[in-house]
Amino acid sequence: MRLSRLGFVCLSFLIAMTGCGQSTDTGGEAKVAASKPDAGAQCAFESTKDNSPLVIKAAASDTPQAKEFLQTCINPYTKLYANDPEAAKEGKKKFGYWSCTQCHGPNGDGQVAVSITDDRWQYAKHITDKGMFETIAGGSNGGMFAWHQQIANNAELLPTDDILKIIAWLRTQYKGEGDKPWLN
Ligand code: HEC
Repeated sequence: MRLSRLGFVCLSFLIAMTGCGQSTDTGGEAKVAASKPDAGAQCAFESTKDNSPLVIKAAASDTPQAKEFLQTCINPYTKLYANDPEAAKEGKKKFGYWSCTQCHGPNGDGQVAVSITDDRWQYAKHITDKGMFETIAGGSNGGMFAWHQQIANNAELLPTDDILKIIAWLRTQYKGEGDKPWLN
């Protein structure tokens, strides 16, 4: 009796903890079966290729926004751009600068490769900025390169901040139906 009471208390505590962890995440995050609640102040990224840990460290040159994202999994540009079309242009500029346009078209609507602005996601986790970041940063088995400079081990490629700006702009271009969990 005693033991089972203790077990119950522990369980309730655990559930409460999980709840706390998720409240700092986007709402959609909870629906993504593959990702676990993040421990501590580090966003635990997972490779889209094989779900292995995708390790991205804060760099000295990172912006405060990039550092925040690496801790919280929340892209601070997404809400900003949703309310400020002028600011969002910065993300569109990066999308062109890094030649994402070559495969996805000038507005991300799909050219050679898939559209990013409709509600057909290549991977269900793309409804969160964390999930989309994992595919852009670490690549996929279906034709996306790893674009993050740390993952590709190439300083000429994208820093965290550029990927976040691109994602936030892509969200403003969304033409699909339904919820926009990235704004939660
Ligand atoms: C060489 C062509 C090519 C280039 C260049 C390219 N992509 Fe992709 N991208 C793809 C392909 C192919 C897929 C589908 C991947 C899959 O299904 O695994 C994809 C998928 C994606 C997705 C997921 C879309 C969805 O609907 O779920 C995102 C987001 C994305 N790319 C962003 C980018 C960004 C940002 C850049 C520039 C930094 C970029 N891509 C450059 C070929 C490309």
